[in-house]
Amino acid sequence: MSIDKKFIDQFTNITSKAALAASYLVGKKDKIAADKAAVDSMRTELNKINMNGQVVIGEGTLDEAPLLYTGEFLGTKNGPVFDIAVDPVEGTNFVANNLPGGIVVLAIGEKGNLFNAPETYMNKIATGKIDKGLIDLDYPLEKNIKNLSEFKNKDISSLNICILDRPRHKIIIDKLKDLNVNIKLITDGDVLGALYVSDPKYNVDMFLGIGGGPEGVLAACALDAYDCNFQGRFIFNNQKDKIVAKSMGITDLNKKYELREIVKGDSIFCATGITNSEVLKGITIEEDKFISETLVTHKNSNFKEIVKNICSINK
Ligand code: FBP
Repeated sequence: MSIDKKFIDQFTNITSKAALAASYLVGKKDKIAADKAAVDSMRTELNKINMNGQVVIGEGTLDEAPLLYTGEFLGTKNGPVFDIAVDPVEGTNFVANNLPGGIVVLAIGEKGNLFNAPETYMNKIATGKIDKGLIDLDYPLEKNIKNLSEFKNKDISSLNICILDRPRHKIIIDKLKDLNVNIKLITDGDVLGALYVSDPKYNVDMFLGIGGGPEGVLAACALDAYDCNFQGRFIFNNQKDKIVAKSMGITDLNKKYELREIVKGDSIFCATGITNSEVLKGITIEEDKFISETLVTHKNSNFKEIVKNICSINK
């Protein structure tokens, strides 16, 4: 089964409008207000779509989030049955502080095809298209780097590795430095971090490290359309997280997930820039119009494009 191509435009409009809503809060030092603006817009617009949608990745459980909570039904109930994954503002710090990299993210899969990720961390590794078995989350870092350098026929010292700048990554970052690779440290926003491997123009050969689990599923969705390599393992640091995971049907808490197990079948992914980034221009407003840029992928039609929209603000 495929998701009808007509939904590409509809979902692109949704992330564009949510990005516009959040853009009014750029630089206002208020992460919560920016997130709320995007959430409100997304929820209103998703409810207008002719679909039977259910949120599998959202703003948290019903007690934590009244809108776009995990399990919430969205849409007119008149249409195909979809799994919906959202990150209304990915990079809330970026938006609050007017820094590059704030985006709105939405992924749609057919019912049961997007992994219902717990709100925990995930250890991730991503590269472009590569031979099976060459890169693995369980290999020592040195082996992955050596294999990647041989596969790409690039000297280790010219490989570019992207990782979140966090104290938890100190050992990896020190090792990368010893290996003499080029490190691209990002302060936030590991959906874009992972997406850099999708196109040589971003000059990132590998993304790795621990970030949000839900962000891992969203990134995997776009990487799937680009035929990239991705693996992830959730990290359950405390008893509460383990209980929640079990209640969500995760029996093997140490399981390493392949991309195929995270995203199955067809999917649509949309990420619209709120602030500028290497991938997308942020929202610009000109009189009564706004201009947005959205990275859109649709797996089955092999659609992978940055779509520029010019829309009336009041539409
Ligand atoms: P928010 O937009 O929700 O603040 O998330 C930003 C982010 O950097 C994600 O891209 C990443 O997966 C996660 O936070 C990392 O979490 P932490 O900041 O706890 O290391």
